[in-house]
Amino acid sequence: MIKIVPQVKSIKENDLQINFDEIILQGDLSEFAKKDLQSFITDKTEYYCSNKGYIIEFKILSDDHCKEWYSIDAQVNGMTVCACTEEGIFRAVTTLKQILSQPLCGFTLEDEPKNSFRGFMLDVGRYFYSVADVKTIIDYAALYKFNYFHWHLTEDQGWRFESHKYPKLTEIGSHRSHTNFGIKKESGFYTKYELKEIVQYCHERFIKVIPEIDMPGHTMSALACYPELSCFNRKLKVSTHWGIKFDIMCAGKDFTYTFCKDILDELCEIFTDEYIHIGGDEALKKRWELCENCNKKLKELGLDNMEQLQLYFANYLAEHLSTNGKQTIVWYNKFDEKDKIVPNKDIILQFWGTKKDVEFANVVKSGRRVVTSNSSGYYIDLPYGYITLADSYNTQGVTGIEDTKTIFGYETCLWTEYVKNLKKAKFNMFPRVFAISEIFWSGESNKDYQKFLQKLEFEKQFIRKFDVKVPRKGIYNPNGIRKFFSKLWFEKRQLVWQGLYLTIDNYLVKSKVKRSKKKKILRRGK
Ligand code: ACM
Ligand code: ZN
Repeated sequence: MIKIVPQVKSIKENDLQINFDEIILQGDLSEFAKKDLQSFITDKTEYYCSNKGYIIEFKILSDDHCKEWYSIDAQVNGMTVCACTEEGIFRAVTTLKQILSQPLCGFTLEDEPKNSFRGFMLDVGRYFYSVADVKTIIDYAALYKFNYFHWHLTEDQGWRFESHKYPKLTEIGSHRSHTNFGIKKESGFYTKYELKEIVQYCHERFIKVIPEIDMPGHTMSALACYPELSCFNRKLKVSTHWGIKFDIMCAGKDFTYTFCKDILDELCEIFTDEYIHIGGDEALKKRWELCENCNKKLKELGLDNMEQLQLYFANYLAEHLSTNGKQTIVWYNKFDEKDKIVPNKDIILQFWGTKKDVEFANVVKSGRRVVTSNSSGYYIDLPYGYITLADSYNTQGVTGIEDTKTIFGYETCLWTEYVKNLKKAKFNMFPRVFAISEIFWSGESNKDYQKFLQKLEFEKQFIRKFDVKVPRKGIYNPNGIRKFFSKLWFEKRQLVWQGLYLTIDNYLVKSKVKRSKKKKILRRGK
């Protein structure tokens, strides 16, 4: 059996043994794809490329297939690879890398994705990843046929996007004095030149880039640079520890809206693809509830509560982005279609709940576009004790939705609170990325875990060529005891999330606001 991950749509094999030592690549193959495949063959297989030997002929047809479709026909005297676009040829090349890494027999195959949005998210806010490391991760994503790179560029712990208009964001916001358990400073940001370099790197691999500036929460790194962005102009620090913070951008000040629009405009100059992510997760309303400006804005807009004010904030920025020709993605927060304000219909909602969260199916059924990064299966920052390989393979994209045509996109997320370097990233990615790529490309309705497991040994050997050593089965599919200890080890993070500090700080903010309100009343009374 020829083993390929993600599983191709159809394949027929025969008994013809195909033997050769040298390969010739010819036909409709871009210089980039040719070099990519040629160097793979020469460096990582038993063959080499020459101008005599077994011919692999590439043809771009004008047939009516989707842009990622391709077919491969392998005969004793040569192989033909057909597609309708360069993108289709590129996807075929990724499949050929696997095929040429195993004994060859005659076959014909046809392939195309079940889902046209297959995202890979990398958080570089918690830990900074160098340009070289980001490229390595993009290489893995390309190898497994992901076609969107969601780049989470800003976090409480670090601002990584160079802004010319607001230079303090990187001068101050890209450094944290130390990390959760470490004492060392952690720093880094990408210049505009480097950001563009990554966009081009993705485009060469037919991956589109979705940059994310997370707003209004997870913005301590920005508030540390521009205190006027926060509700009480407090002098804050770039966060050292993980955890949901109480200080977020103020939704009542004009400056916040100006700042966000300016940043998004700068972002749109660099990132030329159609989607921009504006975050929106875990924005607690502790400060907004106390803030005069936020309360004034709420009243002016005639809204019922601060959750609705956040919807207003997101809609406002989405409308601004649409004037730049962009579509907006936000992390999903619960809302009711009957509320005074709901997310604009053209906003894409990214689901990050768990399989227990069954109401989300109604959002899909209502016809809204959704991307699912169901955190019961597609969150690969979590230890294998929480999300085993089997979980990644078997988790449904949206619980209760069998008709996956109604799901706009799928995405896997590599958050990095506890993934401090490329080595750990690789450990967390593989083998889960094998499983996830298969669900995303081949479709939920075609999944077959037992068949997938039959390919796993080959896949582990294959990915070794790319400097990845997949951990033992006991690690990625742990038994009950291992699971328990894996979770326990991870949950040591609860000891350092600074909850007590936040509670005390919140008490101080509350008291100060109370005192200042009292003073105002007294002054008015005089
Ligand atoms: C998230 O996991 N905070 C989207
Ligand atoms: Zn405010």
